[in-house]
Amino acid sequence: PQNNAHRDKKGDDHSHWRYGGAPPWPQVSPACAGRFQSPVDIRPELTAFCPALRRLELLGFELPPQPELRLRNNGHTVQLSLPPGLEMALGPGQEYRALQLHLHWGAAGRPGSEHTVGGHRFPAEIHVVHLSTAFAKADEALGRPGGLAVLAAFLQEGPEENSAYEQLLSHLGEIAEEDSETWVPGLDVSALLPSDLSRYFRYEGSLTTPPCAQGVIWTVFNQTVKLSAKQLHALSDSLWGPDDSQLQLNFRATQPLNGRIIEASFPAGVDSSPGTDEPVHLNSCLAAGDILALVFGLLFAVTSIAFLVQMRRQQRHPSGTKGSVSYHPAEVTETVA
Ligand SMILES: *[C@@H]1O[C@H](CO)[C@@H](O)[C@H](O)[C@H]1NC(C)=O
Ligand SMILES: [Zn+2]
Repeated sequence: PQNNAHRDKKGDDHSHWRYGGAPPWPQVSPACAGRFQSPVDIRPELTAFCPALRRLELLGFELPPQPELRLRNNGHTVQLSLPPGLEMALGPGQEYRALQLHLHWGAAGRPGSEHTVGGHRFPAEIHVVHLSTAFAKADEALGRPGGLAVLAAFLQEGPEENSAYEQLLSHLGEIAEEDSETWVPGLDVSALLPSDLSRYFRYEGSLTTPPCAQGVIWTVFNQTVKLSAKQLHALSDSLWGPDDSQLQLNFRATQPLNGRIIEASFPAGVDSSPGTDEPVHLNSCLAAGDILALVFGLLFAVTSIAFLVQMRRQQRHPSGTKGSVSYHPAEVTETVA
């Protein structure tokens, strides 16, 4: 009951939404009904292998203990604010700065990653949100192609405690309540991501919460991060959200690709296990330059054929007199068009 007044004051600033209930997200932000939304189901056999997708570069992610960082339960997730100076490059000339990281999880015995791979949902998922250096503020980058980039990794159960994650998880008890925050020592943010930054999936989608702005470049790592069962349990069982309910299952349903082809930095569509046949379907990656070359190549071929056809016609009907040489350039042009 005391929550109602609290909720009203939030108004329509995109924070008035929740998982699995009213109001429908497109009512909160029309972009949530867009055609190119996130998360998506990644089917490795349908990805396009793009050798041009190189290992990601992270610079300045190893933070010293001081200054401390803000860790906040905002009612939708636990979010760590990152200081200036964490630089990430998707490729040459595509530079970004990390803003914040947060997590998505399930409940006891129920997985809660946002992306799925071949329909499989992982226990949890980390998102590190980045802003393009072409923009000064996140608001300006919303909805712009490549304005925001998110690095995503799946969290899975492993035998050992993950010491990097423990530096965050050990503070969840202090922020159990919705809209509460605490301060934690700076840590090596790159240690929260997989060690292999060279194998990943890449596609363009959206923010997975309102305002659902599109143009977000997603990098979903193929290597997973391992946490102990106890740590995964602490993540899904420590925080409280709106309406005096536990903050759990905070993931959005997978969205249709609507023709998008997910790229892979490695040959994900090739099954390398012994005894299996060639993949049925293997997309290959074409850059804009390759497509232009193809178009001009085709145009050249069509023009050449038209020219040859015209030559043959003239050879078959040789004209006696000089004046009646039939040469119809217009016809050639028409054939090309
Ligand atoms: C990693 O790639 C392999 C090969 O395509 C695939 O079988 C596996 O499901 C992928 N795992 C993740 C977490 O992306
Ligand atoms: Zn997220």
